[in-house]
Amino acid sequence: MNRFDIAAKEWDTKPTSQLVAKSTSEIMRENISLEDKEILDYGCGTGLLAFSISDEAKRVTGMDNSAGMVEVFNQKAQDFGFTNIKAVQHNIDNEELPQNTFDIIVTSMTLHHIQNPNDFFIKCKKALKPNGYLCISDLDEEDGTFHEKHKNDGVHHFGFSKAQMAQFYTNNGYTLIYLDDICTLERKNGNFPIFLSIGQI
Ligand SMILES: C[S@@+](CC[C@H](N)C(=O)[O-])C[C@H]1O[C@@H](n2cnc3c(N)ncnc32)[C@H](O)[C@@H]1O
Repeated sequence: MNRFDIAAKEWDTKPTSQLVAKSTSEIMRENISLEDKEILDYGCGTGLLAFSISDEAKRVTGMDNSAGMVEVFNQKAQDFGFTNIKAVQHNIDNEELPQNTFDIIVTSMTLHHIQNPNDFFIKCKKALKPNGYLCISDLDEEDGTFHEKHKNDGVHHFGFSKAQMAQFYTNNGYTLIYLDDICTLERKNGNFPIFLSIGQI
């Protein structure tokens, strides 16, 4: 059992996670149409973001390494009668994604937990349909204090600079169409800005 399995049951009560999901979905909608789209939410957690974009989407698939998160996600879908949304367990560090399948891939607060972000961009490009979008919200570059409570367990990157993000997109053949901060998480140990980036293949 990892720390996300343990956190899953209480995850939806976290104001910071709610704020990132809300800000991400709002700014995504301002920049791209979600209407009738096949969407993958990678590192979906309990689906705070996935559920908030499922209304107009054709289907939202959640993928997450944590069995506990996937279980809470699917229980919510069942309890609230959402029929176009489902999560499956998947580990991007050692598994491939289905090819040429999604119009939009979104990942929120997960890239810093992925061992090799550049491989993630490569895998997503293959998983996207032509002209598809990769949307990523995550921590701006920080000094390791954001996860100090968890002793940086499972944290492979202390956020990302805008320059790093721009390079991941352009080096992998995406056109960057949006990159800016969308909200700030206020914690006792500091204020942490969150960016959203959107690239198109
Ligand atoms: C900080 S949580 C974010 C969850 C959700 N996106 C949200 O914003 O509420 C990070 C998520 O990434 C998942 N994760 C971490 N490493 C992963 C990996 N290698 N493959 C798939 N999911 C991973 C965790 O299980 C966790 O649910």
